[in-house]
Amino acid sequence: MGLASEALNYLSQISTQSIFVLAGLIPTVLLVLVVILNVLKQLLFKDPTAPPLVFHWFPIIGSTITYGIDPYEFFFKNRRKYGDTFTFVLLGKKVTVCLGPKGSDFVLNGKLKDVSAEDVYGHLCTPVFGTDVVYDCPNSKLMEQKKFVKFGLTSEALRSYVELIGRETQEFANGVLQGKEGTVNITEAMAELTIYTASASLQGKEVRSRFDSTFAQLFHDLDAGFSPINFMLPWAPLPHNRKRDAAQQKMASVYLDIIKSRRESGKEKDSEDMIWNLMNCTYKNGTPVPDKEVSHMMIALLMAGQHSSSATSAWILLRLSTRPDIVEELLEEQKRVLGEDLPPLTNENLSLLLLNAKVVKETLRIHVPIHSIMRNVKSPMPMEGTPYTIPTSSWVLASPGASSRMEQYFPDPLKWEPHRWDDDKGDKDAEDDEKVDFGYGLVSKGANSSYIPFGAGRHRCIGEQFAYIQLGTIIATWVRNFKLSSVGEFPKTDYSSLFSRPLNPARVRLERREKVEKS
Ligand code: HEM
Ligand SMILES: *[C@@H]1O[C@H](CO)[C@@H](O)[C@H](O)[C@H]1NC(C)=O
Ligand SMILES: *[C@@H]1O[C@H](CO)[C@@H](O)[C@H](O)[C@H]1NC(C)=O
Ligand SMILES: *[C@@H]1O[C@H](CO)[C@@H](O)[C@H](O)[C@H]1NC(C)=O
Ligand SMILES: *[C@@H]1O[C@H](CO)[C@@H](O)[C@H](O)[C@H]1NC(C)=O
Repeated sequence: MGLASEALNYLSQISTQSIFVLAGLIPTVLLVLVVILNVLKQLLFKDPTAPPLVFHWFPIIGSTITYGIDPYEFFFKNRRKYGDTFTFVLLGKKVTVCLGPKGSDFVLNGKLKDVSAEDVYGHLCTPVFGTDVVYDCPNSKLMEQKKFVKFGLTSEALRSYVELIGRETQEFANGVLQGKEGTVNITEAMAELTIYTASASLQGKEVRSRFDSTFAQLFHDLDAGFSPINFMLPWAPLPHNRKRDAAQQKMASVYLDIIKSRRESGKEKDSEDMIWNLMNCTYKNGTPVPDKEVSHMMIALLMAGQHSSSATSAWILLRLSTRPDIVEELLEEQKRVLGEDLPPLTNENLSLLLLNAKVVKETLRIHVPIHSIMRNVKSPMPMEGTPYTIPTSSWVLASPGASSRMEQYFPDPLKWEPHRWDDDKGDKDAEDDEKVDFGYGLVSKGANSSYIPFGAGRHRCIGEQFAYIQLGTIIATWVRNFKLSSVGEFPKTDYSSLFSRPLNPARVRLERREKVEKS
């Protein structure tokens, strides 16, 4: 009796335990099954018309993590294995990477019926910019909006911007150090300076004065809309999205108020900012650009310019801090070209400072702010010179930044050396290059170019000139004021946001020069 009950007891214990063990195993077993099926699928089903698929263990996750940590390492590793064209899985989406100048051409000069930028960026950008602009309207309307902005950057406008940016930068330089020398966190410092310079010039004085108070927080909240998680969940009722939506409304209404008060006061245009310009633009169908759209375009310009320029200026100062010889050479160039007394900079002067511009150019070669440009494929795209046709279930990806890191185009590609552009026949190359007009003036197709940090095709940047002026003025003013030296190891890149910026700690040591040009 005793023995039997003990045995029963023992058996029941075993089975309860094993049920638990089994239950615990089920997810593991399922996962193993999913992984095995995923791997088998990759090994057994090979479509000869599809580019090679980057091997991955888990469906959906695919290569998201390795790509996300260091896209260039991911691109170059797979390029060695598969060549310039291959597909990987990014959060469940098949993305075909098209490397090199040919790949960039394929993606960026794709036909309107074949590729769509708004399908990829719309969900992310529309809540930040607002409706009816950029990716929340037909492409033909975007082309007109780009024309308004590009044509608004007249030579008078650019001339006045250099003066305004120079003044802001000098003021910032005056206050950035407590004493004669010190260290600054360069990413934060440049983010602040970029906002001041862009708002003082392009955005107008009302916006600039608000950045001393309310705008900074609004900008910060709006910017949270660009967090990478929003690629998946742009509409999720998360706190950062609620703040984003509130900030968009508030900021749009600030711009509307500025426009309204300018119109009501009956004032004449009294500055070269973009608000005045857009207030006076009319679409081809005869409709004046509605104030709401002016306001949303101004937000789009603020956001588009801020990250790319601030990350680039941070990289420039970090690079300069490792090359005191170039810093001295830049100052010598200014003294030689403009005079020992270093007069206040003008746009005409800036165009004579060749090394100054090469510093921008070389920094944008290695530190392109946008490492991946993506499009949704809308109709199957045969790829010339390959057996592949990219299906509509995929996105395509171009990486101009990968081309400009290729040894075949730029020997010792990761070496930062502005003088590598010394015998660059920049203008001649540009003349040879085919030009197209998508509705916002002639732009280079860049169809065979290994250096297109501003993109190519219908979505090409319209902020290039402005960025060069902004960055050029910042460099010139900075080297007049400071000697730079490096602190610790050169920072790695933070690829986790949409714009690649230096990973903290990223610090630069400054020593104020004895004689500072006052402007
Ligand atoms: C260093 C600075 C900058 C870099 C490297 C840069 C780079 C780029 C690139 C690569 C594109 C193409 C994106 C695509 O094809 O999807 C682009 C588009 C654009 N950028 Fe810039 N940009 C810079 C500064 C600016 C500034 C300062 C502004 C505004 C004043 C601006 C406004 C725009 C606009 C409106 C577009 C067009 C978007 C489209 O048509 O889809 N950018 N930029
Ligand atoms: C508005 O544009 C018209 C031509 O399109 C021009 O004649 C006029 O001077 C502009 N006004 C302002 C304030 O810019
Ligand atoms: C710098 O610009 C100013 C104003 O345009 C001009 O008067 C001066 O001649 C320029 N300097 C040089 C060296 O071109
Ligand atoms: C593309 O550029 C390379 C050099 O970078 C040149 O050898 C080649 O001829 C060019 N091809 C075309 C079609 O322009
Ligand atoms: C710079 O950043 C470090 C952390 O990376 C922080 O401890 C320090 O206080 C910052 N310095 C300034 C001047 O903001």
